[in-house]
Amino acid sequence: MKYKAIISGIEAYAPDYVLTNAMLENMVETNDEWIQSRTGIKERRILKDPTKATSDIGVEAINKLLKKKGISPDEIDMVICATTTPDHIFPATANIISDKVGIKNAFGFDVSAACSGFLYALNVGSKFVESGTHKKVLVVGADKMSSIMNYEDRNTCIIFGDGGGVVLLEPTEDMDLGIHDSILKSDGQGRHYLHQKAGGSLHPATLETVENKEHFAYQEGKTVFKFAVKGMSDTTFELMQRNNLNAENLDWLVPHQANIRIIEATRKRAELPVEKVMVNIQKYGNTTNGTIPLCLWEWENKLKKGDKLILTAFGGGFTWGATYLTWAYNS
Ligand code: UT7
Repeated sequence: MKYKAIISGIEAYAPDYVLTNAMLENMVETNDEWIQSRTGIKERRILKDPTKATSDIGVEAINKLLKKKGISPDEIDMVICATTTPDHIFPATANIISDKVGIKNAFGFDVSAACSGFLYALNVGSKFVESGTHKKVLVVGADKMSSIMNYEDRNTCIIFGDGGGVVLLEPTEDMDLGIHDSILKSDGQGRHYLHQKAGGSLHPATLETVENKEHFAYQEGKTVFKFAVKGMSDTTFELMQRNNLNAENLDWLVPHQANIRIIEATRKRAELPVEKVMVNIQKYGNTTNGTIPLCLWEWENKLKKGDKLILTAFGGGFTWGATYLTWAYNS
C-alpha cells in the first residue's frame, strides 16, 4: 500500500502578553518607525510566566488540536518538537510535552535546525507516515525566544517573540494530497553568524560566560539577511519549477516570518501577488520554529482542500529549504 502524509489539523498558541515597539523604545535605543520599516514588526508576544517554557507552548497547541479533532492522547504514535529553546538541553522537549499532554504510546524527539526546524521536522514526520509505520504524528514548532534574548541588544531583541503551533500528520491513499516534494539544505559555514555561544559542551556555563552575555542569541543581521533572501527564494523558485507551479496554480506561499523584506524578495522571485503570501510578522515577530504553524493556523479558515502551498524557511546553522504540499481538508 502506498501512502502520502497529509496535514489533517493545525493549532497554535501565542502568549497573551504583548511587547510593542513603543515599549522597546524604553528598553533600547530604537524607534517604532525603524523597526516597522526595517522588519515589518509592530509587536511580539512574550511568555511572561517564569514557570512556563517552550513545552507549555506546545502543550497549549496540542490540547486544543486533540480537542478539536476528537482524538485521545493514546492514539498519537509519534511527537517531534522543533525548537531552538528546549526546556533543557536534555531530555528532549518532545518527551516533556508528551508527559504533560498524557501521550503514552508515542516516541518523541527534538529537531534542532533553528528557524528551519519546523520544515525539517515536518519532512521527518512525513516519512514515517508515508512508510505506513506511523498513523498519527504530531509535529510541533515552538520557541520561547525571550529566554535567550538580551533586552539590551537592539540587534536581536526587537525581532524575536514567543509562540508556536502543531500539525497532525496522517496517511492518505490519495496521491494528489499531502506533502509532495521538498528541498532541504544546510551549510555549517554559516554557524558563526547566528548562534548562542555558550551553554553547550564547547562553552559550558561559567560565571564568565554569564557575565559576557554568551547565553543570549547573537546575530550578524546583514550577513544572515543576504543568505536568507537567497536561500528562501532559490529553494522556492526551484521547487516551483520542478513541480510546474506558477503564479496562477500556486495558491499560497507560507514563508518563515523573519523580516518583511526577506518575505517580499521571495514573493517577487516567485512572481506571486501579495494576496497569496501569508504574513503575520507584524503581530508576532520572529517566533523561530513557531512562524510557519502560526501562519497556517491563522489562515486555516481560508485554506481549501486541493490548495497548493509552498512552505519556506531560513535559519541559523545555516539551514534552509522549501516544501510543496496540497492542503487536504476544508475547515
Ligand atoms: O530567522 C532567522 C534568520 N534571521 C533573519 O533572517 C534576520 C536577517 N536580518 C535582518 O532581518 C536584518 O539584518 C535586521 C532587521 C536584523 C537589521 O536590519 P538591517 O537593515 O540589516 O540593519 P543594519 O544592521 O544594517 O543596521 C542599519 C543601521 C545601523 O546604523 P548605521 O551604522 O547605519 O548608523 C544600525 O546601527 O540601523 C541601526 N540599527 C538600529 N536602529 C534602530 C540596528 N538596529 C537598530 C534598531 N533600532 N533596533
